[in-house]
Amino acid sequence: MAAEEGQWVLMATGRSPTNIAVIKYWGKRDEALILPVNDSISVTLDPDHLSATTTVAVSPSFPSDRMWLNGQEISLSGGRFQSCLREIRKRAQDVEDEKGIRIKKEDWEKLHVHIASYNNFPTAAGLASSAAGFACLVFTLGKLMNVKEDYGELSSIARQGSGSACRSIYGGFVKWCMGKNDDGSDSIAVQLADETHWNDLVIIIAVVSSKQKETSSTSGMRDSVETSPLLQYRAQTVVPNRVLKMEEAIKSHNFESFAKLTCADSNQFHAVCLDTSPPIFYMNDTSHRIISLVEKWNHSEGTPQVAYTFDAGPNAVLIAPNRKNAALLLKKLLYCFPPQDNDLSSYMVGDKSILSDAGVKSIEDVEALPAPAEMKTPSQQFKGDVSYFICSRLGAGPKVVTDESLALIDSFTGLPKGV
Ligand code: ADE
Repeated sequence: MAAEEGQWVLMATGRSPTNIAVIKYWGKRDEALILPVNDSISVTLDPDHLSATTTVAVSPSFPSDRMWLNGQEISLSGGRFQSCLREIRKRAQDVEDEKGIRIKKEDWEKLHVHIASYNNFPTAAGLASSAAGFACLVFTLGKLMNVKEDYGELSSIARQGSGSACRSIYGGFVKWCMGKNDDGSDSIAVQLADETHWNDLVIIIAVVSSKQKETSSTSGMRDSVETSPLLQYRAQTVVPNRVLKMEEAIKSHNFESFAKLTCADSNQFHAVCLDTSPPIFYMNDTSHRIISLVEKWNHSEGTPQVAYTFDAGPNAVLIAPNRKNAALLLKKLLYCFPPQDNDLSSYMVGDKSILSDAGVKSIEDVEALPAPAEMKTPSQQFKGDVSYFICSRLGAGPKVVTDESLALIDSFTGLPKGV
């Protein structure tokens, strides 16, 4: 170590996207290493709308590793954080920065880090914040410690923080290969296509109000593996075939096939949850109403207009092939689920311009929307059942944030800014 011993703080900041699986990961074959029972495929969402930003700082003056999430200090003692820190530290290399700070590879084991992370979307909304968070932690620690490993290896480390985090190491369309090795070394993510490959796709997320306490994915998966006969059939017989078809649909921009596979896989995942003892209910009445709306529309057109997928919670992720269908979808959704407090601008976050595409500029325009033609009349309205919508698109993988003013840690104190 050089510079004035104990005086310096060295930092790196990164930003990582979240992702949504279109072929679902549900069930582990190894709990400690987080190894799945089947391959999964996801789309990475635009980090401008859904991402984690993390600053990691190192200084000889830090007596212990510490972390702050959205401004609150959290414990790093959990096995998942410890695995990521240990695996990245093992691979750390010599570092020399432009201010003359030098850290030898062997010194990293003795140095402690401060980590500050911030999600640009509500952490408790059930939007895979841990996927973005662990991908960002591993990516940014890797930058700070000058880790030279390729992205496949980084994905395998992120996987040990949160399974789906391995897919957030890449942008676009990503496959998590389950792997066969007992040590998990081949359970890595690969990019199928980048975010420019199919950039017409529009993603609308309905953040569904939920009062009910959900079963965590970790315990839900464990119960499903132990009790659901459908899970075994799905993992061994259904998913391998679906993964091949999904890869083909993505490669050829075949929305009909993409949508059918996406909806069928979401429904089978929730069927596995129902097949679990005791059964797990992640979707609620609002989720079911959204499925019914999309299914009726798709059926009336004779070909899929939009795909839906639901993770371990009630939020709907809706994927449209283009802006025209996304705008048509939005009109139907706004008719069925008008905003509670008549405030349209906070009801649509992300790419708000989809509202003008839908011809909706004011709450009066929402009130004037016609009932969706394919719904039985009079179709019911459910004001307040959707908290808000996010309009997004496919996005890129993790990036270093070079603007030092965006760092979450003060380079003088080594503590989160504002703490
Ligand atoms: N869990 C949820 N969000 C996270 C973040 N940004 N970093 C680490 N873990 C998280």
